[in-house]
Amino acid sequence: MKRTTQNIGIIMNGVTGRMGTNQHLLRSIIAIRDEGGIVLPDSRVAMPVPVLVGRSHEKLAALASRTGNPAWTTNLDQAIADKNNSIYFDAQTTGRRFDDVRTAIRAGKHVYCEKPVATSTEQALALYRMAEAAGVKHGVVQDKLWLPGIVKLKTLIESGFFGQILSVRGEFGYWVFEGDVVQPQRPSWNYRKEDEGGIIVDMLCHWRYLLDNLFGPIESVSCLGATHIPRRWDESGDPYDATADDSAYATFQIAGGIVAQFNSSWCTRVRRDDLLTLQVDGTKGSAVAGLRECVCQHYSQTPRPVWNPDIPQPIDFRAGWLNVPDSQTYENAFKAQWRRFLLHVINDEPFPWNLVEGAKGVQLAECGLQSWSQRRWVSVGELR
Ligand SMILES: NC(=O)c1ccc[n+]([C@@H]2O[C@H](COP(=O)([O-])OP(=O)(O)OC[C@H]3O[C@@H](n4cnc5c(N)ncnc54)[C@H](O)[C@@H]3O)[C@@H](O)[C@H]2O)c1
Repeated sequence: MKRTTQNIGIIMNGVTGRMGTNQHLLRSIIAIRDEGGIVLPDSRVAMPVPVLVGRSHEKLAALASRTGNPAWTTNLDQAIADKNNSIYFDAQTTGRRFDDVRTAIRAGKHVYCEKPVATSTEQALALYRMAEAAGVKHGVVQDKLWLPGIVKLKTLIESGFFGQILSVRGEFGYWVFEGDVVQPQRPSWNYRKEDEGGIIVDMLCHWRYLLDNLFGPIESVSCLGATHIPRRWDESGDPYDATADDSAYATFQIAGGIVAQFNSSWCTRVRRDDLLTLQVDGTKGSAVAGLRECVCQHYSQTPRPVWNPDIPQPIDFRAGWLNVPDSQTYENAFKAQWRRFLLHVINDEPFPWNLVEGAKGVQLAECGLQSWSQRRWVSVGELR
């Protein structure tokens, strides 16, 4: 059968950054190109064609030469004016997103962007309304939903494994080096409030879509933030004041009575199975999901511990869990979502992870910050 290739020009703004380069360009768009594009049911082949956009000629040229020499430019307006580019993608620092996504919507581009969508719920919702009014397709990165560990957890939920789900415990974090002795592994703007940094803004967006999609809508939040490390060193080796929260201790109430507790921290050392673990406890079983693996323990396999610190612990607790096997080939989570967004654009396939869902993430972060500053529970209202 003869296949016709349909090119989809994608403006990739902020592509020289950590997420832009690694997750979105190399592991998603270039990976899809290397596979020969996406074959559609009608035998067309959708081929993403990236246009790299950023500020630095040197960085863009270097990135282009590593990735098969796609087009690149420092002139965003020119890229937007080009009719061959039908999608605008944004992985810039959060504070820059609103203006450029708005420009792209006004130019009639479909838009896809990193989280947080904007720096306020109001702005995030404004983008959603503009995109709907303009009739363009829109989406927000919600990558954790495609992590193999989370996919396995979702399968357990859907199979009724847990009985009644009672609680969820999320542990996220690792030690992010300050930068004086060991190179930091995250950008310095993450630790400056004035540059839209902070772990509450960063991570509560993720917890919103994870909890909403797996367990039900979040009704209220109590959150305590902290800046445990007040001084860090930036990319140039200069010291700066870390003005943003680097840890968040949050509890969420979910419709139906499920309680979810999440510790998020860039100031903790890992002694658990993975950088993110999610323990779910239900009346009939429990499970712990990491990024790739998920282990579970049925009621019938549940040990019966008794408290006695006078003797060595007789139960090997870790031995009592079973691995949930791989039931499919798992592709990179960002790539999996890109594939769905491209199919949404080109073949009108459903894509529920849109700008209003992104706005909900920003809303939860705002509610978390409000809870922290007012030292109280905050209700999470319905967004429409
Ligand atoms: N989905 C996820 O799991 C995930 C993880 C980390 C970060 N993020 C989000 O991705 C976005 C980028 O984060 P990152 O860690 O890649 O940051 P980064 O600092 O590595 O990259 C930011 C990008 O924005 C560009 N930029 C910064 N200031 C600019 C300016 N003044 N003008 C033009 N461009 C500018 C940089 O050149 C770079 O390309 C953030 O919004 C962040 O919240 C998402």
